[in-house]
Formats: sequence, C-alpha cells, structure tokens
Amino acid sequence: MTLRVLSLASEAFPLVKTGGLADVAGALPDAVGPAGIEMTVMLPGYPVVMKGLKRAKLLHHYADLLGHEARLLRGKIGVHPLVVLDAPGLFDRDGGAYGDQNGRDWADNWLRFAAFAKAGAELAAGVVGGGKPFDVLHAHDWQAAMAPAYLRFLHGDKGVAPKSVMTIHNIAFQGQFARTIFPKLGLPPAAWAMDGVEYYGDVGFLKAGLEAADAITTVSPTYAREIRTPGFGMGLEGLIVAKSDRVTGIVNGIDPAIWNPAHDPALAKTFTVRTLARRVANKRAVEQAFGLEPGDGPLFIVISRLTWQKGMDVLAATLDHLVASGGRLALLGSGDAALENAFHQAAARHPGRVAVRIGYDEPLSHLMQGGGDAILVPSRFEPCGLTQLYALAYGCVPVVARTGGLADTVIDANVAALAAGTATGIQFDGLTLDSLSLAISRTVRLYHQPERWGAIQQCGMKSDFSWTHSGRAYADLYARLCSPA
Ligand code: ADP
Ligand code: GLC
Repeated sequence: MTLRVLSLASEAFPLVKTGGLADVAGALPDAVGPAGIEMTVMLPGYPVVMKGLKRAKLLHHYADLLGHEARLLRGKIGVHPLVVLDAPGLFDRDGGAYGDQNGRDWADNWLRFAAFAKAGAELAAGVVGGGKPFDVLHAHDWQAAMAPAYLRFLHGDKGVAPKSVMTIHNIAFQGQFARTIFPKLGLPPAAWAMDGVEYYGDVGFLKAGLEAADAITTVSPTYAREIRTPGFGMGLEGLIVAKSDRVTGIVNGIDPAIWNPAHDPALAKTFTVRTLARRVANKRAVEQAFGLEPGDGPLFIVISRLTWQKGMDVLAATLDHLVASGGRLALLGSGDAALENAFHQAAARHPGRVAVRIGYDEPLSHLMQGGGDAILVPSRFEPCGLTQLYALAYGCVPVVARTGGLADTVIDANVAALAAGTATGIQFDGLTLDSLSLAISRTVRLYHQPERWGAIQQCGMKSDFSWTHSGRAYADLYARLCSPA
C-alpha cells in the first residue's frame, strides 16, 4: 500500500537553501519513494520559490489565514508533488527566508511559520485542498513544528488525523516567542499547557511539535543520545528523555544525482575512485579561484556557516599553526561578522596561504570538495553534517570533531583502522585550540604518506552514504505509525 506523506520544511533544494535542511528536505521524496512512499513537499512561498513554481494549480484560497490572505498552490519539485503557501503579506519580501538583508530575523517569524504550519496541518488533515487526508505529516525543525500541534489541538478528535513525525535538524533553534502571541495562534485555550505549547512561560514552537508528534527523529544516532543531556539538549533534554521511547536517530544521506564526482558539472575535471589523479586539476582550479600559491602541503578547505556551533572561532585561532605546518586554507562561508573579520585578518597575515570567500556559492562548494585535500569540520555540536559526507564522496579527507553525525560517519585513522584499511578521515575529541592543532598536524603527517593517504581517500569514496538505508528507515517509521496497533 502506498502511504502519502506531507513533508513540511522551510527550505528544500533546489528551490531555496540556506543549509543542510534544504538538501535533506529536497532529497527525501526520492529517498523514500522506492519504499512505496509518495511524498509531497510543502514550502513557504518566498519569492525564489514562487519564481520556481511552474504551471501551479490552485488548491485552496484562504480569505483569512491568521490574519492574512493566502493560497495553497500545487506544483512540482523535480518529479515530486509540491505545495506552496503563497501568502504575500508574510513571504513576499526582499531578504532571506528567515531575516532581512542584514541578517536580522523577521520580527513576525512566529506568524509566518505558524501560518505555514496551520495550513500544512489543514492540508494534511484533508480540511482544505479538496483531497483525501494524508497518512503522515512530517515536520522539519521549529519552522514546521507547530503543524503537529495544530493537528493535535484542531483535528485530533476526528479520529482520522494523520500521524505526525517531528524531525530535529538542530535543537539549538527552537522558535521561542513571547506568550503574548498565544491568543493569535488560533489554538484553543487548552493548548496553553506544559504538555502543549507553553515553554518556560513563553510559546515554544519546537517544544509544541515534540509534545504533539507521534514520533520524533533526529539526524544521527549519536545526536539522538547527546540531546538527552543539558549540554546538547539546550533546555529540551528533559522532554527528550521523557519521550525517549519515540526518539530515533536516522543519519542523513546524500543525493547522488547532485553530489557525484563522476559527473559533476561544477568540477574542472570529473573523477572516480579509480581516477583520483585527475583531482589535481580541481585543486589547481581552487587555488586559482582563491588566489592561493601552490605548495607541497595539503590544501585544507572549509565550507560552512561561520558560527559558534561550527567551531569557527577556534579554527580562526589555529590558522597560524596550520600555515606553519605547511598547510593552506580556502574558506567559503558567511555568518557572524566577528568571525568573518577574524578570517580576513588571517588571510592578510598569510597571503597566498589562507584565502577567504565570504558568501554563498553552490558551484564553488562542489569544486572545493573535488579539489581540496582535507575538509575541516570542527563543530561544537553537529546533528548530522553534510559537508563531511560530500567530502567523503569526493575524496576530500574529513577532519572532524567527534560529535553528533560527525562521530557516526567518519572512521578515524587510528592505528587499528589504518591497519585494517577502514579509515576514512581524522577525528578529534573536544574542541580546543590544542585538539584542533593536533588534528591538523596529524592530517599533515598522513598527507605526506601518499600510500596511506590514498587508501583513506579511496575508503571514503567507497563508503555508502546514499539514502538507501535511511530512506528505508523513514519509510519503516511511517509504516509503523500507520499500522493498526
Ligand atoms: P548546516 O545545515 O548546519 O549549515 P550541513 O553540513 O548539514 O550544516 O549543511 C550545510 C550545507 O550548506 C551543505 O550543503 C554545504 O555545502 C552548504 N553550504 C554551507 N555554507 C555554504 C556556502 N558558503 N556556500 C555554498 N554552500 C554552502
Ligand atoms: C542542521 C544541522 C546539520 C544537519 C542539517 C540537515 O542544519 O546543523 O548538522 O546536517 O540540519 O539535517
């Protein structure tokens, strides 16, 4: 039996992307399709999404969706069904998905994403749109998290409400807003409760979704364990522990149609595990793009949001050591102004050795994966992480902090793994100046042992990070939820 799932996300590649959530939401329909799941993606109608919407069909007109006129439009994302919430008063504005051109969050984000979630819940329940109810509503992160709560409080008594799954891509972002918004959410008074939407006296969107969902997933088994502790749970650890029987970790896959060095149009030269020598053309292209001098040591790359989560402050402080060890760095990223400055300063201290590109550049990120020798991912926490997976597929050796999905997807080149030929990268414990510097030194030493280095690259390229296993895991979860108890 085909199950119909409505996947609600605030971004999905290729229509709108600010980070890994987009890659995952964009890849899921293909990932679960082979297991008999028909997934519809639902997105907010930002200008970029409206532009990408071809031959849209009107599903529903709202005269008043939490105070705004809106339409649900049906189109396609790739070959899969897409529903867009076109609400110009909420989404038709210059700037990003979550904030203005200066990176300040939109002040009405609570309303934008409450409206999105409410429409999603109503569509999933078959209350709008004229179709049958969906079997499962799958909500991603806080922006979609109110959908399970709307299902529960507005449609839960109908007996036919879809089951709901809440996926945490990053528990650090919780969507917490002043209690004064509660009366404007269109929820019954009963929803204002400790096991409802109330969160430390405020309204908590992610909290509400976690309370209401039939199942909770996060994007790696290690992160699923970590968020049970105060250091990682960020206030929600108690709730995660209380619901632990319904929390699972399913690691992200990568989309081989988009991330495959054998036919990636962004590469100067394509290559496979058998033609690794061709990578050098990409390395030269990266050096050229960044204005780096050629050198004998490894070319490190970073492709990242420049934030505290990603450990970028510590990385900036290790760059003198990286250069002294014979390494060079090409960094692509954007984020905190202070971090951008720190990297600019390092580049000024080390011209030709450290180069920084501030901005977002999808094709350049592919070229860097295909040409860099090693990627640095020194995250303080990392629910899954995708850049290390792309790196593995592209023969760029990941150097990662042992946390979350980084711990689950990289095999450290310790003595045993090197002897067994199973190493795929370098891991280090606890992000400090020392631990990262040591990891960089280890990487440089390994790089100068070409046979070992080549074996690590090949082992990474041969690892299976396709969606096959994880797609099946999501499909099994949907099926379990829908099967009669
Ligand atoms: P997160 O979602 O926490 O930022 P992930 O590693 O899961 O981290 O996903 C990040 C995604 O965004 C990857 O697809 C990565 O290649 C991409 N990315 C991050 N920064 C940039 C950038 N400046 N330019 C292009 N792509 C980027
Ligand atoms: C979040 C996490 C990242 C994860 C991505 C996709 O942005 O920070 O670790 O890979 O979501 O699940």
